[in-house]
Amino acid sequence: MSFKNKVIWITGASSGIGEALAYALAKEGAILILSSRKVAVLEQVQQSCLKDCKEVYVQALDLEQHDKIPAIVQKVVKERGHIDILVNNGGISQRSLTQDTIFEVDKRLMDINYLGTIALSKALLPTFLKQQQGYFVTVTSLTGVFGTPYRSAYAATKHALHGFFDSLRAELREDNIDVTLICPGFIKTQVSINAFVGNGEAQGSMDNRQNNGMQVDVFTKKMLRAMRKRKKEVYIGKKEVVMIYIKRYMPWLYHKIIARVRVR
Ligand SMILES: NC(=O)c1ccc[n+]([C@@H]2O[C@H](COP(=O)([O-])OP(=O)(O)OC[C@H]3O[C@@H](n4cnc5c(N)ncnc54)[C@H](OP(=O)(O)O)[C@@H]3O)[C@@H](O)[C@H]2O)c1
Repeated sequence: MSFKNKVIWITGASSGIGEALAYALAKEGAILILSSRKVAVLEQVQQSCLKDCKEVYVQALDLEQHDKIPAIVQKVVKERGHIDILVNNGGISQRSLTQDTIFEVDKRLMDINYLGTIALSKALLPTFLKQQQGYFVTVTSLTGVFGTPYRSAYAATKHALHGFFDSLRAELREDNIDVTLICPGFIKTQVSINAFVGNGEAQGSMDNRQNNGMQVDVFTKKMLRAMRKRKKEVYIGKKEVVMIYIKRYMPWLYHKIIARVRVR
Protein backbone atom coordinates (compact mmCIF):
# COMPACT_ATOMS: atom_id res chain seq x y z
CA MET A 1 0.00 0.00 0.00
CA SER A 2 1.36 3.39 -0.99
CA PHE A 3 0.97 6.41 1.32
CA LYS A 4 1.38 8.89 -1.57
CA ASN A 5 -1.35 11.56 -1.45
CA LYS A 6 -3.04 9.79 1.46
CA VAL A 7 -4.42 12.22 4.06
CA ILE A 8 -2.93 11.04 7.34
CA TRP A 9 -3.73 12.62 10.72
CA ILE A 10 -1.09 11.91 13.40
CA THR A 11 -1.56 12.73 17.09
CA GLY A 12 1.49 13.18 19.31
CA ALA A 13 3.38 14.48 16.26
CA SER A 14 5.53 16.96 18.20
CA SER A 15 7.96 14.36 19.58
CA GLY A 16 9.27 10.80 19.46
CA ILE A 17 7.32 8.22 17.48
CA GLY A 18 4.75 10.67 16.03
CA GLU A 19 7.44 13.10 14.89
CA ALA A 20 9.55 10.34 13.30
CA LEU A 21 6.45 8.89 11.63
CA ALA A 22 5.64 12.33 10.17
CA TYR A 23 9.13 12.54 8.62
CA ALA A 24 8.87 9.00 7.21
CA LEU A 25 5.40 9.65 5.72
CA ALA A 26 6.49 13.03 4.32
CA LYS A 27 9.20 11.15 2.37
CA GLU A 28 6.41 8.92 0.97
CA GLY A 29 4.48 11.96 -0.30
CA ALA A 30 1.60 11.81 2.17
CA ILE A 31 -0.63 14.78 3.03
CA LEU A 32 -0.15 15.26 6.78
CA ILE A 33 -2.16 16.71 9.63
CA LEU A 34 0.02 17.05 12.72
CA SER A 35 -1.58 17.32 16.16
CA SER A 36 -0.58 17.71 19.79
CA ARG A 37 -0.68 20.50 22.40
CA LYS A 38 2.59 22.30 21.52
CA VAL A 39 1.79 24.16 18.30
CA ALA A 40 5.18 25.94 18.06
CA VAL A 41 6.95 22.55 18.14
CA LEU A 42 4.49 21.10 15.59
CA GLU A 43 5.30 24.03 13.28
CA GLN A 44 8.99 23.09 13.40
CA VAL A 45 8.09 19.49 12.51
CA GLN A 46 5.86 20.88 9.73
CA GLN A 47 8.77 22.87 8.24
CA SER A 48 11.01 19.79 8.26
CA CYS A 49 8.30 17.68 6.60
CA LEU A 50 7.76 20.30 3.90
CA LYS A 51 11.27 19.59 2.60
CA ASP A 52 9.92 16.22 1.43
CA CYS A 53 6.19 16.72 0.73
CA LYS A 54 3.83 19.46 -0.38
CA GLU A 55 1.01 19.57 2.15
CA VAL A 56 1.43 19.56 5.93
CA TYR A 57 -1.15 21.08 8.28
CA VAL A 58 -0.96 21.75 12.00
CA GLN A 59 -4.00 21.26 14.23
CA ALA A 60 -3.76 21.92 17.99
CA LEU A 61 -5.35 19.10 19.97
CA ASP A 62 -5.34 18.30 23.67
CA LEU A 63 -6.49 14.71 24.20
CA GLU A 64 -7.52 15.63 27.74
CA GLN A 65 -10.07 18.21 26.55
CA HIS A 66 -12.71 15.77 25.34
CA ASP A 67 -15.45 18.39 24.88
CA LYS A 68 -13.41 20.22 22.23
CA ILE A 69 -12.62 17.15 20.14
CA PRO A 70 -15.84 16.85 18.06
CA ALA A 71 -15.54 20.47 16.83
CA ILE A 72 -11.86 19.97 15.96
CA VAL A 73 -12.72 16.85 13.94
CA GLN A 74 -15.54 18.71 12.15
CA LYS A 75 -13.13 21.53 11.24
CA VAL A 76 -10.38 19.19 10.00
CA VAL A 77 -12.83 17.11 7.93
CA LYS A 78 -14.34 20.29 6.43
CA GLU A 79 -10.90 21.68 5.56
CA ARG A 80 -9.44 18.47 4.09
CA GLY A 81 -12.66 16.96 2.72
CA HIS A 82 -11.40 13.43 3.21
CA ILE A 83 -9.25 11.61 5.80
CA ASP A 84 -7.60 8.30 4.90
CA ILE A 85 -5.79 7.36 8.11
CA LEU A 86 -5.92 8.42 11.76
CA VAL A 87 -2.78 7.51 13.71
CA ASN A 88 -3.70 7.60 17.41
CA ASN A 89 -0.23 8.01 18.87
CA GLY A 90 -0.35 10.84 21.45
CA GLY A 91 -0.01 9.70 25.04
CA ILE A 92 1.77 9.85 28.38
CA SER A 93 3.45 7.08 30.35
CA GLN A 94 3.91 6.41 34.07
CA ARG A 95 6.84 5.66 36.34
CA SER A 96 5.49 4.96 39.83
CA LEU A 97 4.45 2.11 42.07
CA THR A 98 0.68 1.84 42.57
CA GLN A 99 1.02 2.55 46.29
CA ASP A 100 2.79 5.85 45.51
CA THR A 101 0.37 6.95 42.75
CA ILE A 102 -2.41 9.38 43.62
CA PHE A 103 -5.81 8.55 42.09
CA GLU A 104 -5.71 11.79 40.08
CA VAL A 105 -2.82 10.31 38.05
CA ASP A 106 -4.85 7.15 37.26
CA LYS A 107 -7.68 9.42 36.08
CA ARG A 108 -5.48 11.71 33.98
CA LEU A 109 -3.79 8.80 32.23
CA MET A 110 -7.18 7.28 31.41
CA ASP A 111 -8.43 10.70 30.22
CA ILE A 112 -5.46 11.27 27.91
CA ASN A 113 -4.47 7.83 26.64
CA TYR A 114 -7.85 6.11 26.53
CA LEU A 115 -10.80 8.55 26.60
CA GLY A 116 -9.00 11.19 24.49
CA THR A 117 -8.10 8.60 21.87
CA ILE A 118 -11.58 7.13 21.67
CA ALA A 119 -13.22 10.59 21.70
CA LEU A 120 -11.16 11.44 18.61
CA SER A 121 -11.78 8.07 16.92
CA LYS A 122 -15.53 8.15 17.60
CA ALA A 123 -15.77 11.73 16.29
CA LEU A 124 -14.04 10.65 13.06
CA LEU A 125 -15.91 7.36 12.66
CA PRO A 126 -19.02 8.86 10.90
CA THR A 127 -16.68 10.34 8.27
CA PHE A 128 -14.98 6.98 7.71
CA LEU A 129 -18.41 5.30 7.48
CA LYS A 130 -19.65 7.92 5.04
CA GLN A 131 -16.51 7.48 2.93
CA GLN A 132 -16.86 3.66 3.28
CA GLN A 133 -13.11 3.79 3.71
CA GLY A 134 -10.75 4.56 6.56
CA TYR A 135 -7.97 3.23 8.72
CA PHE A 136 -7.43 3.59 12.48
CA VAL A 137 -3.83 2.96 13.58
CA THR A 138 -3.49 3.08 17.35
CA VAL A 139 -0.18 3.03 19.19
CA THR A 140 -0.64 1.10 22.42
CA SER A 141 2.28 -0.69 24.10
CA LEU A 142 3.53 -4.14 25.06
CA THR A 143 1.93 -3.15 28.38
CA GLY A 144 -1.37 -3.15 26.49
CA VAL A 145 -0.95 -6.94 26.44
CA PHE A 146 0.74 -7.62 29.78
CA GLY A 147 1.20 -5.55 32.94
CA THR A 148 4.55 -4.63 34.48
CA PRO A 149 5.56 -2.96 37.77
CA TYR A 150 5.60 0.87 37.75
CA ARG A 151 2.93 1.01 35.01
CA SER A 152 -0.37 -0.03 36.66
CA ALA A 153 -2.36 3.02 35.50
CA TYR A 154 -0.60 3.22 32.14
CA ALA A 155 -1.00 -0.49 31.39
CA ALA A 156 -4.70 -0.17 32.21
CA THR A 157 -5.13 2.61 29.62
CA LYS A 158 -3.36 0.59 26.95
CA HIS A 159 -5.31 -2.61 27.76
CA ALA A 160 -8.49 -0.54 27.44
CA LEU A 161 -7.46 0.58 23.96
CA HIS A 162 -7.02 -3.08 22.92
CA GLY A 163 -10.55 -3.89 24.12
CA PHE A 164 -12.07 -0.91 22.36
CA PHE A 165 -10.28 -1.29 19.03
CA ASP A 166 -10.65 -5.09 18.83
CA SER A 167 -14.41 -4.58 19.23
CA LEU A 168 -14.48 -1.73 16.72
CA ARG A 169 -12.49 -3.76 14.14
CA ALA A 170 -15.04 -6.56 14.37
CA GLU A 171 -17.95 -4.12 13.98
CA LEU A 172 -16.41 -2.52 10.87
CA ARG A 173 -15.70 -5.79 9.08
CA GLU A 174 -17.95 -4.89 6.14
CA ASP A 175 -17.26 -1.15 5.94
CA ASN A 176 -13.76 -1.16 4.40
CA ILE A 177 -12.36 0.35 7.60
CA ASP A 178 -9.30 -1.31 9.14
CA VAL A 179 -7.76 -1.17 12.60
CA THR A 180 -4.10 -1.81 13.46
CA LEU A 181 -2.79 -1.92 17.02
CA ILE A 182 0.93 -1.07 17.22
CA CYS A 183 2.54 -2.25 20.46
CA PRO A 184 5.99 -0.74 21.06
CA GLY A 185 8.52 -2.11 23.53
CA PHE A 186 11.30 0.24 24.70
CA ILE A 187 11.80 2.90 22.02
CA LYS A 188 14.31 5.72 22.44
CA THR A 189 12.05 8.81 22.75
CA GLN A 190 11.15 11.38 25.41
CA VAL A 191 8.51 9.04 26.86
CA SER A 192 10.22 8.39 30.22
CA ILE A 193 11.14 12.07 30.59
CA ASN A 194 7.48 13.07 30.09
CA ALA A 195 6.04 10.16 32.13
CA PHE A 196 3.98 10.97 35.22
CA VAL A 197 5.41 9.98 38.59
CA GLY A 198 3.13 9.28 41.53
CA ASN A 199 2.22 12.89 42.30
CA GLY A 200 1.47 13.76 38.66
CA GLU A 201 4.72 15.59 37.92
CA ALA A 202 6.87 14.61 34.94
CA GLN A 203 9.73 12.23 35.77
CA GLY A 204 12.12 14.54 33.92
CA SER A 205 14.81 11.93 33.32
CA MET A 206 15.66 9.32 30.72
CA ASP A 207 15.38 5.69 31.88
CA ASN A 208 18.24 3.31 31.08
CA ARG A 209 15.87 0.92 29.33
CA GLN A 210 14.56 3.78 27.15
CA ASN A 211 18.04 5.02 26.39
CA ASN A 212 19.06 1.55 25.24
CA GLY A 213 15.78 1.00 23.42
CA MET A 214 15.13 0.70 19.70
CA GLN A 215 16.03 3.79 17.65
CA VAL A 216 12.87 5.61 16.66
CA ASP A 217 13.59 5.61 12.91
CA VAL A 218 14.07 1.82 13.00
CA PHE A 219 10.75 1.60 14.85
CA THR A 220 8.86 3.75 12.33
CA LYS A 221 10.14 1.65 9.41
CA LYS A 222 8.66 -1.44 11.07
CA MET A 223 5.47 0.44 11.91
CA LEU A 224 5.02 1.53 8.29
CA ARG A 225 5.60 -2.04 7.12
CA ALA A 226 2.81 -3.21 9.47
CA MET A 227 0.53 -0.44 8.19
CA ARG A 228 1.23 -1.38 4.57
CA LYS A 229 0.20 -4.94 5.34
CA ARG A 230 -2.78 -3.77 7.43
CA LYS A 231 -1.69 -6.07 10.25
CA LYS A 232 -4.21 -6.43 13.06
CA GLU A 233 -1.68 -6.22 15.91
CA VAL A 234 2.13 -5.94 15.93
CA TYR A 235 4.82 -5.97 18.60
CA ILE A 236 7.87 -3.82 17.85
CA GLY A 237 10.93 -3.62 20.06
CA LYS A 238 14.04 -5.54 21.04
CA LYS A 239 14.21 -8.66 23.22
CA GLU A 240 11.40 -7.41 25.53
CA VAL A 241 8.94 -8.54 22.80
CA VAL A 242 9.56 -12.16 23.86
CA MET A 243 7.42 -11.49 26.96
CA ILE A 244 4.32 -11.44 24.73
CA TYR A 245 4.93 -15.07 23.81
CA ILE A 246 6.01 -16.09 27.30
CA LYS A 247 2.74 -14.73 28.69
CA ARG A 248 0.73 -16.37 25.90
CA TYR A 249 2.29 -19.83 26.03
CA MET A 250 3.87 -20.05 29.52
CA PRO A 251 1.83 -17.75 31.77
CA TRP A 252 3.40 -19.26 34.92
CA LEU A 253 6.83 -18.12 33.68
CA TYR A 254 5.54 -14.62 32.86
CA HIS A 255 4.31 -14.24 36.47
CA LYS A 256 7.72 -15.34 37.74
CA ILE A 257 9.76 -13.04 35.47
CA ILE A 258 7.61 -9.92 35.53
CA ALA A 259 7.94 -9.45 39.29
CA ARG A 260 11.73 -9.31 38.95
CA VAL A 261 12.29 -7.61 35.60
CA ARG A 262 13.82 -4.11 35.43
CA VAL A 263 11.40 -1.80 33.61
CA ARG A 264 13.28 1.50 34.13
N1 LIG B 1 8.75 5.18 23.55
C1 LIG B 1 8.36 4.02 24.04
O1 LIG B 1 9.19 3.22 24.53
C2 LIG B 1 6.92 3.64 24.03
C3 LIG B 1 6.59 2.34 24.44
C4 LIG B 1 5.25 1.96 24.41
C5 LIG B 1 4.29 2.82 23.98
N2 LIG B 1 4.63 4.09 23.59
C6 LIG B 1 3.55 4.98 23.17
O2 LIG B 1 3.93 5.67 22.01
C7 LIG B 1 3.21 6.90 21.92
C8 LIG B 1 4.19 8.02 21.58
O3 LIG B 1 5.11 8.17 22.65
P1 LIG B 1 6.63 8.60 22.45
O4 LIG B 1 7.46 7.47 22.88
O5 LIG B 1 6.84 9.20 21.12
O6 LIG B 1 6.74 9.70 23.61
P2 LIG B 1 6.98 11.29 23.59
O7 LIG B 1 8.25 11.58 22.89
O8 LIG B 1 6.83 11.70 25.01
O9 LIG B 1 5.77 11.84 22.73
C9 LIG B 1 4.47 11.87 23.23
C10 LIG B 1 3.58 12.69 22.32
O10 LIG B 1 2.24 12.70 22.86
C11 LIG B 1 1.76 14.04 22.88
N3 LIG B 1 0.84 14.26 24.00
C12 LIG B 1 1.05 14.06 25.31
N4 LIG B 1 -0.02 14.45 26.03
C13 LIG B 1 -0.93 14.90 25.14
C14 LIG B 1 -2.24 15.44 25.26
N5 LIG B 1 -2.83 15.64 26.45
N6 LIG B 1 -2.89 15.80 24.14
C15 LIG B 1 -2.31 15.63 22.92
N7 LIG B 1 -1.09 15.13 22.74
C16 LIG B 1 -0.40 14.77 23.84
C17 LIG B 1 3.02 14.90 23.04
O11 LIG B 1 2.82 16.19 22.49
P3 LIG B 1 2.54 17.57 23.29
O12 LIG B 1 3.38 17.53 24.53
O13 LIG B 1 2.94 18.61 22.28
O14 LIG B 1 1.07 17.57 23.54
C18 LIG B 1 4.03 14.13 22.20
O15 LIG B 1 3.93 14.53 20.85
C19 LIG B 1 2.51 7.06 23.28
O16 LIG B 1 1.16 6.70 23.15
C20 LIG B 1 3.23 6.08 24.18
O17 LIG B 1 2.41 5.60 25.22
C21 LIG B 1 5.91 4.50 23.62
